[in-house]
Amino acid sequence: MFDKDKKIIYSGIQPSGEFTIGNYFGAIKNWVALQHEYNCIYNLADLHTITVPQEPAALRRRTVECMAMLIASGINPENSLIFLQSHVAAHSQLCWLLNCFTYMGELSRMTQFKDKSSRQGANIRVGLYDYPVLMAADILLYQSDIVPVGDDQRQHLELARDIAIRFNAQYSPTFKVPEGYFGEKGARIMSLADPNKKMSKSDENKNAFILMKDNKDVIISKFKKAVTDCDSEIRYDIKQKPGISNLLEIYSCSRSISIKEAEADFCGKSYAQFKLAVGESVADALAPIQSEFERLVKEKSYINSIFCSHAQTASNIAARTLSKTMRKIGFYQLEKQ
Ligand code: TRP
Repeated sequence: MFDKDKKIIYSGIQPSGEFTIGNYFGAIKNWVALQHEYNCIYNLADLHTITVPQEPAALRRRTVECMAMLIASGINPENSLIFLQSHVAAHSQLCWLLNCFTYMGELSRMTQFKDKSSRQGANIRVGLYDYPVLMAADILLYQSDIVPVGDDQRQHLELARDIAIRFNAQYSPTFKVPEGYFGEKGARIMSLADPNKKMSKSDENKNAFILMKDNKDVIISKFKKAVTDCDSEIRYDIKQKPGISNLLEIYSCSRSISIKEAEADFCGKSYAQFKLAVGESVADALAPIQSEFERLVKEKSYINSIFCSHAQTASNIAARTLSKTMRKIGFYQLEKQ
């Protein structure tokens, strides 16, 4: 499947809810484009989702749907590895080993942990605290060169690098030290209800996000309600006009054009015309993905075969790094009988 001369890309996404256009324009669309130039490994990070409570039946259903959505979006299982984190035991195993090379101080400084734990109040789970170490294990297992992530994961990626450097220095080179890749466009799609907040599928306000599965009417009605400002000019200015800038960003992503070109399309137009056009262009961009999704999600045996074969390939790659790591630490290795 993989070309030895190409670099390895690794990224993950949690099946913790249905994907939004923030996931699509911020991550998935970039993943699709990267497949031509790199050996890509994409992971549905289901182990990460249980750092907050999950309903079992919903988690199971969403996992299949998220897989179907990734393939429908253009991730090609012939060229890229695409598998479920919980199917490859080495992720949990390397996570334990790396826990013994990570400092409490480092994890306590993680802003995502501070945010999420402060919202949870009592009984904060160790898993939430340890989340970045599992993510480091994901990345380091595959000797990844490049890791595309959103801005909110920058600190976690930095930690993965620090752990790799520390381990390599204490033993000998074991892990590739990965580089981050922060897509210049669409890395941050903001909430339609509060453009200073990232668009999130867990927002209580259903009008704050657009799901990849939303139909055209829903999409248009959500854009109609999007928060803007009391000015009337359609121009990109994050500080003064965060709502309009977010809509321009979404429009430019959905049509694969620059912000400048997007602005030019709406010179002299009203906010109402602008919002309608954004809604239509998003609905048009999603339409082919939605119909492919509807077809795939019914093909349970196809999805299952991808899960199986890709988990097997991923396990084989991961086993090499895991056993190398264990040998260096000094674990007694079984000899083949
Ligand atoms: N934590 C990432 C997120 O929520 C998802 C993720 C899990 C990931 N493992 C990863 C991203 C490894 C990049 C590399 O966005």
